[in-house]
Amino acid sequence: MIQFAEQIRRRGETIGLVPTMGALHEGHLSLIRAARRQTDTVVVSIFVNPLQFGVREDFARYPRNLSRDLALAKREGADVVFAPSREEMYPRGACAIVEVEGLSDQLEGALRPGHFRGVATVVAKLFNIVQPTIAYFGQKDYQQAVIIKRMVEDLHWPVRIDVLPTVRESDGLAMSSRNVYLSTVERRQAVALSQALKAAHEAIRGGERRAQALRRRMQAVMRQQALIRVQQIGIVDAATLTPVAQLKGRAAILVAAFVGTTRLIDNLLVDVT
Ligand code: PAJ
Repeated sequence: MIQFAEQIRRRGETIGLVPTMGALHEGHLSLIRAARRQTDTVVVSIFVNPLQFGVREDFARYPRNLSRDLALAKREGADVVFAPSREEMYPRGACAIVEVEGLSDQLEGALRPGHFRGVATVVAKLFNIVQPTIAYFGQKDYQQAVIIKRMVEDLHWPVRIDVLPTVRESDGLAMSSRNVYLSTVERRQAVALSQALKAAHEAIRGGERRAQALRRRMQAVMRQQALIRVQQIGIVDAATLTPVAQLKGRAAILVAAFVGTTRLIDNLLVDVT
C-alpha cells in the first residue's frame, strides 16, 4: 500500500481516502462517491479497529462481510480496498498512540474512555500508509470529525479533511453499521433519535435558545418509546465541544441512546444568530 501510494504521489496525482470499519452502507458510499469525484485514486480502508472498542463493547460481533464490501466499493468506483490484518496494523509490542487531549474526553469520549485515542491512532496510521490528499469523514460521527481535524492541524499533516452530511433512512434514522443489531420493534422505535433532533430544530426555529429546554423537549420525544434509554444529550459549541447553556453561533446537538441493547448516536448542527 505504501509503495503504491508513493507511485501515485510521485506522478503528481491525488489520493482520496475513505476510512471505514466495513459493513458498508449508503453513508459510506456517499463518501466514496465524493472521493471518486474529487481525486484521481480512491482508497477505501476496511479495518475493525480493536483499539477503539471498550472491553464491554461489540468488537467481537461487529458485522464483517468483506466480499460484499468489496463488491460495493468496486461498484462505486474505488480503485483500492485496503483491508489490513490486526497484526499488520498493530505489530506485537506496538505502543505508540495518538491522543487529542481535551476534545477526546468530552461527550462520547466521557462515555467511552479511550475510544477517541483508538480512533486517532488508527487514522494516523492509515494516513501514513495511504498518504491521502483528501480524507473523507461523515458528520454522523461529529466529535470524531472534529478530533481528526484537530489532529491534522496540530500535527501539521498535509492532508485535507472533508466532512460530508449524514445519510439517513427514509424515516430519518441515521444509517449505521450497527442498525443491523436492531429487532423489528427496536428499528421502528430507533427513529425517535432523529425525531428528537428534529423537534429541537423546530423549537430553535421558533426562537428557543435555552439548552435545558431543548434537552427536555428531546427527552419527551424519546420517552415515547419504551425500548429507548437516553444516555446523553450534549448541546455544545460546534468547534470547541464545550457545553453551552444558551445557543449562540454554531452549535452541535448530540444524542446517544440505547435502543434495546444497541447503542446509537446522532447529531444536528445549527447556526443561531
Ligand atoms: P465507520 O463507523 O465504518 O464509519 C466510516 C465513516 O463513515 C466515518 O467517517 C463515519 O462518520 C461515516 N459514516 C457512518 N455513517 C454515516 C452516515 N449515515 N452518513 C454519512 N457518513 C457516515 O467511523 C469509523 O468507521 C471509524 O471510527 C474509523 C474512522 C474508520 C476509524 O476506525
